[in-house]
Amino acid sequence: MSAAEPVDLTVADLHPALGDPALTSMNFLNEVSERYPAAVSLAAGRPYEEFFDLAAVHRHLDTFHRHLVDDLGHRPEQARRLLLQYGRTKGIVHHLIARNLAVDEGITVDPEDVVVTVGCQEAMFLVLRALRAGPTDVLLAVAPTYVGLTGAARLVDLPVWPVAGGPTGIDLADLAAQVHRARAAGLRPRACYLMPDFANPSGVSIDTAHRQRLLDLAAQEDLLLLEDNPYGLFHSDDGPRPPTLKALDTGRRVVYLGSFAKTVLPGARVGYVVADQRVAGPDGPVGPLADQLAMIKSMVTVNTSPIAQAVIGGRLLEHGCSLVAANTRERSAYTRNLRHLVAGLTRRFPDQPEQLDRPAVRWTVPAGGFFVVVTVPFPVDDALLDRSARDYGVLWTPMAHFYDDTAPVRALRLSVSAVTPEQIDVGLDRLAALITDELTRWAG
Ligand SMILES: Cc1ncc(COP(=O)(O)O)c(C=O)c1O
Repeated sequence: MSAAEPVDLTVADLHPALGDPALTSMNFLNEVSERYPAAVSLAAGRPYEEFFDLAAVHRHLDTFHRHLVDDLGHRPEQARRLLLQYGRTKGIVHHLIARNLAVDEGITVDPEDVVVTVGCQEAMFLVLRALRAGPTDVLLAVAPTYVGLTGAARLVDLPVWPVAGGPTGIDLADLAAQVHRARAAGLRPRACYLMPDFANPSGVSIDTAHRQRLLDLAAQEDLLLLEDNPYGLFHSDDGPRPPTLKALDTGRRVVYLGSFAKTVLPGARVGYVVADQRVAGPDGPVGPLADQLAMIKSMVTVNTSPIAQAVIGGRLLEHGCSLVAANTRERSAYTRNLRHLVAGLTRRFPDQPEQLDRPAVRWTVPAGGFFVVVTVPFPVDDALLDRSARDYGVLWTPMAHFYDDTAPVRALRLSVSAVTPEQIDVGLDRLAALITDELTRWAG
């Protein structure tokens, strides 16, 4: 837009979140990848597209339709209406989600406590909208955190206070300290958001004993936990997965956020929230938190597309409601890629010396999920990403995007989910060239 072009509005007169880095981050990263289509992308956290199958989508829809008629006893015109008409705000696959959580996670939920949402993103928005009651409310979130959470919090004017993540996934001493600090300042910490399994972006998981300690602390401090779990199924080893916080939750402390983007299809845009917390009104109990969230949803998206829900429902039904069973191919591809990436980094950066005041190039070795974090001895910002894409042909995500401040961050996130091992090799060669050149530049 030229300076002379007439304008009708200014950003300053719109909601303050507009223009905030949390809201522009995803678009910026997408724009960079569009500008350099030839670059290998180790940035995208999208699922692997080679497994997408259009014919299966039609079949899933039919499977769910048959389920409505054969299993649930709907007449054909009722089933047609359920799929094609406006529908129940809380969704039409809630019973299958409850079954899936029982089968895969050992979580027992009343289907009435489930709200099916337009992706997990809407679930986060609904929960934050509901929890933000007044100007003294704040949200705690393990840092680094998913930028979609920070952006949603901005939109509902809810400040986000970082809690140290560290090697255990959440520093409980810091969590307690932040709760106390907020309360001492007259603020009300409403909840703590975290991803206990293969977090985005850190890749870190919380072990079972620490999960239990976290729940104990949440009870002690009377704090809700918002558990976001899009990556939990993609563990690399064959041992048992740690139980989710929700599976360990005996006191309705945990609001569980689910996404089908990585385990079924991102294009369906279906997620959900389990909100079994009991809510009281002035005249007594008014039902689960899920009902309050549904009230907000009715004014945001009305209901989640029943056609999209049917696709998810059909996929669940075809695998006995087990997404573990439905994702065996995906899990082994992501595991293979993660191992390939870590081995590739080890080969390209052998015997990293500690140089004077500069640490060597280091990387995490997560036990699953999509993400590896590489730490380097120089600042990693958007300008470096742009140069990496233009001059070296490789995309990654600056870790600075996952921190809610402007401090320089010397790390980048690599994702293994949307690439082949061959693309990982090419991408790592290019990344190694960039890092080597930067090391020389910063040493000189
Ligand atoms: C941690 C986390 N939560 C939520 C989402 C969004 O999920 P959905 O696509 O279902 O909105 C993502 C997507 O990448 C994510 O990484």
